[in-house]
Amino acid sequence: MAKFLINNNGPLYGEVQISGAKNAVLPLMAATILTGEKCKIREVPKLLDVRVMQDILDFLGAEIKADGAGALDIEMKELTTREVPFALANQMRASFLVMGPLLAREGYAKVYLPGGCTIGARPIELHLKGFEALGAEIVLKEKYVEAKVGPEGLKGASIYLDFPSVGATENIMMAAVLADGITYIENAAEEPEIVDLANFLNRMGASIKGAGTDNIKIEGVKKLKGTEHTVIPDRIETGTFMLAGAITRGEVLIKNIVPDHVRPIAAKLRECGVIVEVVDEGLYVNGGQNKLISTDIKTLPYPGFPTDIQSPFMAFLTTVEGSGTVIETVFENRFMHVAELNRMGANITTEGNRAIVQGGKQLVGAHVAATDLRAGAALVLAGLAAKGTTEVFDIYHIERGYENFAEKFRNLGADIVRVDD
Ligand code: UD1
Repeated sequence: MAKFLINNNGPLYGEVQISGAKNAVLPLMAATILTGEKCKIREVPKLLDVRVMQDILDFLGAEIKADGAGALDIEMKELTTREVPFALANQMRASFLVMGPLLAREGYAKVYLPGGCTIGARPIELHLKGFEALGAEIVLKEKYVEAKVGPEGLKGASIYLDFPSVGATENIMMAAVLADGITYIENAAEEPEIVDLANFLNRMGASIKGAGTDNIKIEGVKKLKGTEHTVIPDRIETGTFMLAGAITRGEVLIKNIVPDHVRPIAAKLRECGVIVEVVDEGLYVNGGQNKLISTDIKTLPYPGFPTDIQSPFMAFLTTVEGSGTVIETVFENRFMHVAELNRMGANITTEGNRAIVQGGKQLVGAHVAATDLRAGAALVLAGLAAKGTTEVFDIYHIERGYENFAEKFRNLGADIVRVDD
């Protein structure tokens, strides 16, 4: 099992290049199932989760070629199976995103229930509600879901999501693009990754309007074709490096970013006294100029403060003067990093979905475990600011979603190495 060894090396300085977004590339890869023609996806980050999606597509019959420069060619001429087995589905929650495209193309899918981070129940009933509304017959067993469509195929429908789930919006959108008639997804998720997927699907020949708003209109088409697409930059990786600049009181230029996508993170950092400026080359973050103070955050669906940046932001709040409240409203069990941060000298108490962070602490190095992907990133950030050596275990969680994590930090002057035990 690999771990990161981190020593405080003072403020981070320099430039960092952001990779393609994990949460955008996974649905894009699933969407290639919708055509028999070749799709080229550029700026694909090298991540464990991308590897898993590649394995799933490969298992379904795709031919996949990597060009070594970050592009993947995916061609699903014919499917060899319409089933995703437990061993693949269990590796990440996003495996369930193949259900919508499989149903649309084949009229049948059997997918074992997804795994992924242990940050709450993460049910799938909204995905299934959408498929059912489109005319699929769903059989939900303890371990898998089977969905079938009659010979008449999927039919457009109006679907209201009780919560703007990112995955459900994507899955339903992908199922609806080949349906007969018009589908409306109301209270849809508005995340930039949804817009990226809609742009990709539209380039394949779909007719989707309103992606990025809470009401998406999809006019079904008969057939989709192959296309080329460049993945949007990862806004969560961007936020993580913004916080790296802030927590080490450093000065970082973050390149390949979309400023709009990180607006809530920038706003909250500015409230704390961190300088965040959009410049020609990217985003300039300076945490060493002003005295930093605490603030409160509340996670919400986009364009609210992202739940994926809650734990990295909390790590930062432990280091600034004053007390801040962190409220998590998207996931029910996303405070597992609190115990680990407290082991590093933080003073955080929780009650339900609310955490109070008493800041101004000098963190100290400790042995800590990454309990999920973003919690792992938070611990690495804490390690960069802590006195002494921090060892972060279970870093496979981190490698699911961050490309060349240690290397990018080293380029900024951090003392961090990946050690294979
Ligand atoms: C995606 C992101 C993840 C991010 C999350 C919220 C990917 C691959 N992952 O996950 O990084 O943290 O959005 O921004 O894009 N829910 C239900 N029923 C459902 C579906 C979801 O109750 O059928 C609930 C979940 O339990 C959770 C909340 O909705 O509490 C948000 O989940 P969702 O938006 O679906 O997140 P994911 O798509 O899994």
